Amino acid sequence: MSQDDLKRLAAKAALEYVEEGSIIGVGTGSTVNHFIDQLAEMKQLIDGAVSSSEVSTERMKMHGIQVYDLNASGPLDLYVDGTDEATRFLHLIKGGGGALTREKIIAAASKKFVCIADDSKLVDRLGTFPLPVEVIPMARSYVARELVKLGGTPMWREGFTTDNGNLILDIHNLDIMNPVETERELNNIAGVVTVGLFAIRPADLLILGTPEGIKTIQ
Ligand code: 5RP
Repeated sequence: MSQDDLKRLAAKAALEYVEEGSIIGVGTGSTVNHFIDQLAEMKQLIDGAVSSSEVSTERMKMHGIQVYDLNASGPLDLYVDGTDEATRFLHLIKGGGGALTREKIIAAASKKFVCIADDSKLVDRLGTFPLPVEVIPMARSYVARELVKLGGTPMWREGFTTDNGNLILDIHNLDIMNPVETERELNNIAGVVTVGLFAIRPADLLILGTPEGIKTIQ
């Protein structure tokens, strides 16, 4: 089975959590693309979705899924999204696709966050994947200097602008011993919009596609 097959498998398993008549929070990435494609097959059963990125919005609209603004939908029962790394404590690193800010907002506004991934994303400790941080453009160099003081090696994702008009710094070599503490610390740097650590509000359920089938951690 390819990694893509495992992503599709995890995405399919998440359909079980979709309730009839509901509005679903939908994330971003290749795993979520599988979820969107499969959700489209039951689109008449749902009211619609709230999207975490322009890319996911476009894909859902292409399938004829109604996309709502979060301000119009109100609180959501379910959010389905992928991840770049996950631990068994359901702490995540997200933002490889640069959609971390809207993803964090939807996760916060949702009762249940179901994270879907292939089993290569499960790690003992977060931080091998460079941690994305969205920053206000004028604060880029200042934030980078602060990140160096904390022991990280920030790299500017040059040529990339987020859906919110901001920039991304990917932090390499950061020691993430305590994800909740690190998330708080980075959140406090002036000019940081969002940190791609999802530990203060972790996932509620992790669905992993493995060669042996689905594995869930909650
Ligand atoms: C986008 C994300 C994605 O969920 C993450 O990058 C995983 O992507 P993929 O499903 O393509 O492996 O956080 O900002």
